[in-house]
Amino acid sequence: TDTYPEIKRDERFSHITAEHVAFFKGILGKESAILDGVTAEVSGDDMEPYNMDWMRKYQGHCKLVLKPGSTEEVSKILKYCNDNMLAVVPQGGNTGLVGGSVPVFDEIVINTSRMNQIRFFDDVSGVLVVDAGVVLEVADQFLAEKGYIFPLDLGAKGSCHIGGNVAANAGGLRLLRYGSLHGNVLGIEAVLPDGTIVDDLSRLRKNNTGYDLKQLFIGGEGTIGMVTAVSIHCPQRSKAMNVAFLGADSFEKIQQAFREAKIQLGEILSAFELMDSYSQNLVHTVRQNKRPLEGEYPFYCLIETSGSNSEHDAEKLGNFLEDVMSKEIIADGVLAENETQIKSLWAQREGIPECLGHWGGVYKYDLSIPLGDLYKLVDETRKRIEDAGLKGDTDDFPVVDVVGYGHMGDQNLHLNIAVRRYDKRVEEVLEPFVYEWTGKVNGSISAEHGLGIAKKNYIGYSRSETMVGLMKQIKNLYDPNGIMNPYKYI
Ligand code: FAD
Ligand code: MLT
Ligand code: ZN
Repeated sequence: TDTYPEIKRDERFSHITAEHVAFFKGILGKESAILDGVTAEVSGDDMEPYNMDWMRKYQGHCKLVLKPGSTEEVSKILKYCNDNMLAVVPQGGNTGLVGGSVPVFDEIVINTSRMNQIRFFDDVSGVLVVDAGVVLEVADQFLAEKGYIFPLDLGAKGSCHIGGNVAANAGGLRLLRYGSLHGNVLGIEAVLPDGTIVDDLSRLRKNNTGYDLKQLFIGGEGTIGMVTAVSIHCPQRSKAMNVAFLGADSFEKIQQAFREAKIQLGEILSAFELMDSYSQNLVHTVRQNKRPLEGEYPFYCLIETSGSNSEHDAEKLGNFLEDVMSKEIIADGVLAENETQIKSLWAQREGIPECLGHWGGVYKYDLSIPLGDLYKLVDETRKRIEDAGLKGDTDDFPVVDVVGYGHMGDQNLHLNIAVRRYDKRVEEVLEPFVYEWTGKVNGSISAEHGLGIAKKNYIGYSRSETMVGLMKQIKNLYDPNGIMNPYKYI
């Protein structure tokens, strides 16, 4: 695991005592609502899911996990922590990819898994109100039964919480169609460190009454308060979904295909995802599955359409495929013919993050880059890693491969370096190179995963000093003692 020897524990924060634990037990009551490694023995295995991140890269040393069951309990916990200078980390499904969801030292984890009720749904407007700890897939299944869809979808849907999604401002696979959470979230209930309950759980689509403070919690990564409930506008679920998987000979051609997809499929287009051959080769190596296309190509894209008429949409997608093949934009392509095929084509894309971790670890860079330049960075990074002699097929080399994939429709590249172990030499080749490169093309060093601890030191490549200064003012205003998710973000 990657530790941060350069960060020192902030000694303004108290060490947790038996007295503190007794107070929390008094609030939470239930034994299952607290994991207490302070006054009792708790095995490392039981604590690990809260201390270790999804990539097994960042590890904290928390000894106390609290699982409140209501907003009032969160309020009492945070007020007590603030009064007693106890640092905390809000945590949902712990699927975040920037080390933001696990402690750095001994911060208390406040986990939302017990706050898991669907509070309200209106099947005329599509407004859904949920507790922060509702799992994304659970909400989406609930909505499916009502003919609606959650406007966010991502590979970690089976374990991430909606509070975590909102705190991270996750983007995901269908942002192209439904837009970002900054637009879809209608209201938020949150708790500030001093225990104040921010009761902004509006169910209204339009609400121009003052500053839109809820936006600060969307993408706030738990640094100013804890989200306890979310109200969100959910679109009608499309009756028809069609998926195509295409291969192309160059990134230039993929861009042309994207342009054509917007022209020919515009109103039904719901995803346009990019995968390079390196990412697909790794998926194939790990899963040993049949590839979707006969031949192999340097680039692939997955196109999804969602509309109201299956036959009509399938015909449109079929015509599109014929057209881009006849113009030699696309070298080969396949259309899913049923639900099983749709799932297996999506697995080629959604399965990438899991497969990349197969060898031990992964360095992840989640970047917004102007489309024309988007793939150049992957080629340059691969060359740097090869030139440094770090990539090879045996255990002597830390790097397995350098791959690129992502949400092409949102100009969002995922540059990933699959490794056998985390190695400082690899990190030194990559950082700050990747961030400098991204800064030079006026990109963003974090498109959708956030800052956490991973990007904290690099925000300057994407934000001016003035902007960072304004952000620090907000942080100090809402969390003057700095107890919320310390050592991270800005
Ligand atoms: P956590 O990981 O627990 O927390 C994330 C951050 O939010 C942390 O800083 C935490 O402190 C804070 N937080 C959590 N809950 C709260 C709360 N209630 N109040 C305040 N702060 C809180 N991201 C994308 O944007 N797009 C993708 O396509 C995508 N795909 C993914 C695929 C996989 C396989 C994985 C593992 C991750 C993926 N992610 C993606 C990362 C993404 O950020 C998370 O999956 C998800 O949004 C985090 O939800 P979570 O409940 O796990 O939050
Ligand atoms: C994705 O798009 O698959 C996610 O953001 C996760 C990742 O970047 O690997
Ligand atoms: Zn992504």
